[in-house]
Amino acid sequence: MENKIEPCMTIIFGATGDLMNRKLLPAFYKLEFENLLHKSSKIIAFARKEKSNEQFRKEVLKSTKKFSKLKINDKVWKRLANKIFYHQSEFQDVKGFNRLKTLIKKICTKSAACNRVFYLSAPPSFFETIIANLKKNDLTASSGWSRIVFEKPFGHDLRSAKKLNESIKKAFKEKQIYRIDHYVGKELVQNLLVLRFANSIFEPVWNKKYIDHVQITVAEELGIGTRGNYYDKFGALKDMVQNHMLQLVALTAMEPPVRLDAYDLREEKVKVLRSIEQFTLKDVKNRTVRSQYGAGEINGKRVNAYRNEEKIDKKSNTETFVALKLNINNWRWEGIPFYLRTGKRLKERVAEINIVFKQNHSVLFDEYVKHTEPNMLIVRIQPEEGISLQFSAKVPGKKMIVDNVRMDFCHECRFGPNSLDAYERLLYDITIGDQTLFTSWDMVEHSWKIVDKITKAWRHGKVSNYNPDSWGPKEADKLIEKDGRRWYKPQKPSYSELLQNDSKQ
Ligand code: BG6
Repeated sequence: MENKIEPCMTIIFGATGDLMNRKLLPAFYKLEFENLLHKSSKIIAFARKEKSNEQFRKEVLKSTKKFSKLKINDKVWKRLANKIFYHQSEFQDVKGFNRLKTLIKKICTKSAACNRVFYLSAPPSFFETIIANLKKNDLTASSGWSRIVFEKPFGHDLRSAKKLNESIKKAFKEKQIYRIDHYVGKELVQNLLVLRFANSIFEPVWNKKYIDHVQITVAEELGIGTRGNYYDKFGALKDMVQNHMLQLVALTAMEPPVRLDAYDLREEKVKVLRSIEQFTLKDVKNRTVRSQYGAGEINGKRVNAYRNEEKIDKKSNTETFVALKLNINNWRWEGIPFYLRTGKRLKERVAEINIVFKQNHSVLFDEYVKHTEPNMLIVRIQPEEGISLQFSAKVPGKKMIVDNVRMDFCHECRFGPNSLDAYERLLYDITIGDQTLFTSWDMVEHSWKIVDKITKAWRHGKVSNYNPDSWGPKEADKLIEKDGRRWYKPQKPSYSELLQNDSKQ
């Protein structure tokens, strides 16, 4: 992180929403705490309701206290609060954008070049209106640089994504566009490249010769909460697979980039997406599973069926769980399946990538390893960040008995709890102009190409149901079992007791 921190103004559209409270403000607080926000930087909160700066600052102090992992220190908060301004306007109101221009001029002090970050945390249906209003008021041109940030979803299919991209391109160039995928900002996801390309022991075996298959699980315990309006239109495939899961696939499967810069890295990731075998109607039937959670119990508490959640159509056919088998038809991965599963209201919150190696057939130990699990490398993205290597070892005693053991690397035990969270890292990267961890247009385009084929085939037929507190529907087990494999249940790593994830530092 040696790049120079430049002052800038981050204008957040939709600044009273969930994302602002849960993620952005705690992230800004952490950056302020770490002195990673320039002293002349400003944050302008753009939202519909009438509020004074003071009132807004008070409200966000409350939510930052609630959602920040750090205890709020008065001095640090004061420094941050002084940077925050509130601006009332509707997204459609051209005059409101004109007033924004005046506000920017007013608070753009002499020492701060008027660099601008337009952060669209608004509902996607407003994206095009906001961009048009920025352009109309000449807000995109400033004496410094300007950048625009999009939260997902970037479109709801390839067509809408293209249309949105066309309207952005009228006001911004690709190098000014930052499409966020917060999974890429997660520490262990960033670590994938180091694991693969900075170690001599992994890269030589990272291919079809040694790897049997890859499993990626992103499971959530929570349901859809208050996001029914959005979720019912999207579902797990578009909410999680089109972006986060395909990013994980790309980082796991990509070739080494020429350099560690945004262009080269993103090029290699796109190549993976281009190599993913497109789903035919028959493939969708054989290689995808969709399901929806029913009513049940989680930790002794009754939970609603998806169809009875707030703002959900009682007859909704939206999936809250997806499992897929992807084939990557390239030199490295030909014949090696990637199994993906993700869902809400599952047994526990966990995200991990399992690299499952081929069983070693040897005259010496074939008999003994028959009942053991294969060698596995497990990248635990959350909740307890780390990497585990599973291999076979002799059980002490006179008899030859072989069992699985795991060697665990605990990220927090080694590096401490203070590494930057995904949003902290991404906000920081935007201010220093580093697009490496952001999604390029090509990635968006190719991921929609894959997803569109599936949604088209899903138009007919119905979702199945699964019980909350499970690992999904039986069909997901069948999907992998028909290939003679099974899902490996995520295990708590040995260091999990050492970590007190919830305690504030
Ligand atoms: C978001 C999805 O992108 O990621 C949510 O819209 C999901 O539905 C969330 O809950 C999961 O993120 P994390 O970081 O909590 O695993």
